[in-house]
Amino acid sequence: MATKSQASIFMVFTATLLVAINGDPQVPCYFIFGDSLMDNGNNNHLHTNAKVNYEPYAQLLGFESFIQPFATARSDDIVKGVNYASGGAGIREESGQHLGERISFDNQIKNHRITILRLIFLVGRGSLVATKKYLHKCMYTVGMGNNDYINNYFAPEYYNTSSLYSPEEFALLLVEQYSQQLQALYAYGARKFGIFAAGYSGCTPGMMAIYGMNSCVDSVNSAIILFNTHLNTILNELNTKYPDAKFIYIDAPLQYPTDLNVTDKPCCEVESIDGKGNCSPDHIPCSNRQNYVFWDSFHPTERVSVIDGTQAYTTLSPLYASEAISSLVDNEEGHFSNA
Ligand SMILES: *[C@@H]1O[C@H](CO)[C@@H](O)[C@H](O)[C@H]1NC(C)=O
Ligand SMILES: *[C@@H]1O[C@H](CO)[C@@H](O)[C@H](O)[C@H]1NC(C)=O
Repeated sequence: MATKSQASIFMVFTATLLVAINGDPQVPCYFIFGDSLMDNGNNNHLHTNAKVNYEPYAQLLGFESFIQPFATARSDDIVKGVNYASGGAGIREESGQHLGERISFDNQIKNHRITILRLIFLVGRGSLVATKKYLHKCMYTVGMGNNDYINNYFAPEYYNTSSLYSPEEFALLLVEQYSQQLQALYAYGARKFGIFAAGYSGCTPGMMAIYGMNSCVDSVNSAIILFNTHLNTILNELNTKYPDAKFIYIDAPLQYPTDLNVTDKPCCEVESIDGKGNCSPDHIPCSNRQNYVFWDSFHPTERVSVIDGTQAYTTLSPLYASEAISSLVDNEEGHFSNA
């Protein structure tokens, strides 16, 4: 998605939940891949409109357990995990390019490889096999696909995918590429995966404005439903293909509290009615943000992010309910592929 940081809240919140319960983290390490819904600083030094770098969210970055962005993570940080997410990024390389620089999922995976090369000396005592054994215990979450729709398929003035592919063909193409990318992470040692469904961007104020509608854009949502359906299928296939790994599909909550009742407009004043949808700097946001689903034209408010994060945490419990996983991890040291 295009902008800013409700995103980081989502991530921060998830990360915080992971460590808050007993003092000890429930997983020793957590790697995060995604778009602006997860970016906590990787785009700050890139030339892009998709920034994740300004108030009012800085207060949330103070959480002790914050997983550091790849852009600035230091050695003692990366042992606990790294956040590679980048606002504007997609499964496809070109997605989001009209917004400016961003780190596509392929490049996020390349950055993970750089982390692994550093971890070999930090946790693996020089051994790649030992490093992978460490990575088997880490949690990986990936949230991709939003920009392949908002900032690709449904932005035909910049991208030709919608003239080349039907929604069904595009969904299949995306999910096939996504599957290869997830398998690349598996080859690097990842075993515990949480994969977020794409959001129903047809209901974002930004998309409704682009289509001149005051209700959800059904054509957009039905394309995304195709993607999520195929994603779910492919994750099941990966679970069968790799019995030593677990791929969990994370759906959005079915229902939000009834007082989250402003669903069709953003809480902040946005720069323009069209697809960009950033909050205008230095304007006072709505006073009753607790009633708003959207903060800007594309991103949810903190309240929604907290609800989504809580749901994700619950959905992912099989990844940190330890017995199941330690048995997974311990019996497959024989067949690593090369990193
Ligand atoms: C579609 O756009 C891509 C660049 O994004 C270009 O490489 C390709 O040739 C275009 N295809 C058609 C059929 O226009
Ligand atoms: C939303 O809910 C709040 C709190 O229950 C209420 O005060 C407000 O009038 C509602 N707004 C709308 C648009 O329904």
